[in-house]
Amino acid sequence: MAQEKLKKEETLAMRKKLIGQSCKLFYSEDPVKILRARGQYLFDENGKRYLDCISNVHHVGHCHPSITKAAAAQMDLLNTNTRFLHDNVVLYADRLASTLPEKLCVFYFVNSGSEANDLALRLAQQYTQHRDVIVLDHAYHGHLMSLIDISPYKFRKLAGQKKWVHVAPLPDTYRGMYREDHPNPGQAYADKVKDLIDEVHGKGRKISAFFAESLPSVGGQIILPEGYSAKVAEYVRAAGGVFVADEVQTGFGRVGSHFWAFQLQGEGFCPDIVTMGKPMGNGHPLSCVATTAEIAGAFTANGVEYFNTFGGNPVSCAIGLAVLDVIEEEDLRGNATRVGAHLKDLLTKLQARHEIIGDVRGAGLFVGIELVSDREKRTPATKTAAWVVKRLKMDHQICVSTDGPWESVLKFKPPMCFSLEDAELVVQCIDRILTDMTANDLRLEKEDI
Ligand SMILES: Cc1ncc(COP(=O)(O)O)c(C=O)c1O
Repeated sequence: MAQEKLKKEETLAMRKKLIGQSCKLFYSEDPVKILRARGQYLFDENGKRYLDCISNVHHVGHCHPSITKAAAAQMDLLNTNTRFLHDNVVLYADRLASTLPEKLCVFYFVNSGSEANDLALRLAQQYTQHRDVIVLDHAYHGHLMSLIDISPYKFRKLAGQKKWVHVAPLPDTYRGMYREDHPNPGQAYADKVKDLIDEVHGKGRKISAFFAESLPSVGGQIILPEGYSAKVAEYVRAAGGVFVADEVQTGFGRVGSHFWAFQLQGEGFCPDIVTMGKPMGNGHPLSCVATTAEIAGAFTANGVEYFNTFGGNPVSCAIGLAVLDVIEEEDLRGNATRVGAHLKDLLTKLQARHEIIGDVRGAGLFVGIELVSDREKRTPATKTAAWVVKRLKMDHQICVSTDGPWESVLKFKPPMCFSLEDAELVVQCIDRILTDMTANDLRLEKEDI
């Protein structure tokens, strides 16, 4: 068993003293201290096992032996500054290219999702020679200043919205302005982007980019309505802008049926820039921007070198290649498709028995359960969602978190080796928690818990 260097209380006390208090922990009232992990399981300081439904970063499973082996072998051999010629970076770029539409054929390697999105902003602004950006409401694109500016989820709590940032409605067909009963919500939400573009032009400003997650996650595990992205891309390109797909959470086969979540929008749609991160290095900091030859050409033409000390180093790329191998060898996309469908099916059955489950949605192993205290009004059941998360951890050692503008969506983005049995266990436990709540007549939405 892994050894604790400090007692849990000591770790907590040191953390309080030494680490910035805006860095939050899961379960802040009673944090979990994890000493080791394997596959979809986490083990605490007492060896207690937790089922991990949160860690989308540890995409092919925690501490996967093929990844650690590839990392150790390359670290033992060489890790250099990225200005030396090396095979790994080109072999890795070539493998990534084979997963993407042909037009996305130039790659920049960086070290975090934030860096990728910041570079995407620069590429878009350089290529279009425009400044303004359209983003979806409730979006989060990273922690750099440039990205806080384009993340309504953050800037609404801070100084507010910059003049060059414009917020389009989240195309949420459950609680947004156009819902499941609308004949063509994709078109209707895209037309809202068109209206915004016209408004921006009316102010004498010009659009450089439309930024969106391919499946908005912080927004509440939203599945974009059919036809939305292609229509938005048409409007944005007509305005001289580019479409940036943030795949930091959703790429690398998470949705099962496709390698990239933007592909759920159909063959006819291809973004101009794709940003990647979290799952790419299975926990090792590795991320990337993929774009077209034209956009990359415009970036080169400014005459300024792009240098990134760590981005695309031999070790990172060895890890990236090993992650791609494991996704294929273990058919993790197939697993995400099968297990995700089973999970959704079980949750939909549960919805028939528990009024509080307002909506079940998702693709592959990207699934959300929206809890509501009133199904008709779709009132977010924020406290109940927090209660379910707490009980899952305390009673069943299952780690789940919440998302959405009201933190009322239980989200599932587990490592891709999540099994059918894991899915069944989670649903049984949620069923038990919701049944006990009903039995005890706990009116959580009215009381403090
Ligand atoms: C959609 C999305 N984009 C970008 C980021 C930023 O990535 P990082 O934390 O690696 O900088 C995140 C992080 O949560 C994210 O969820």
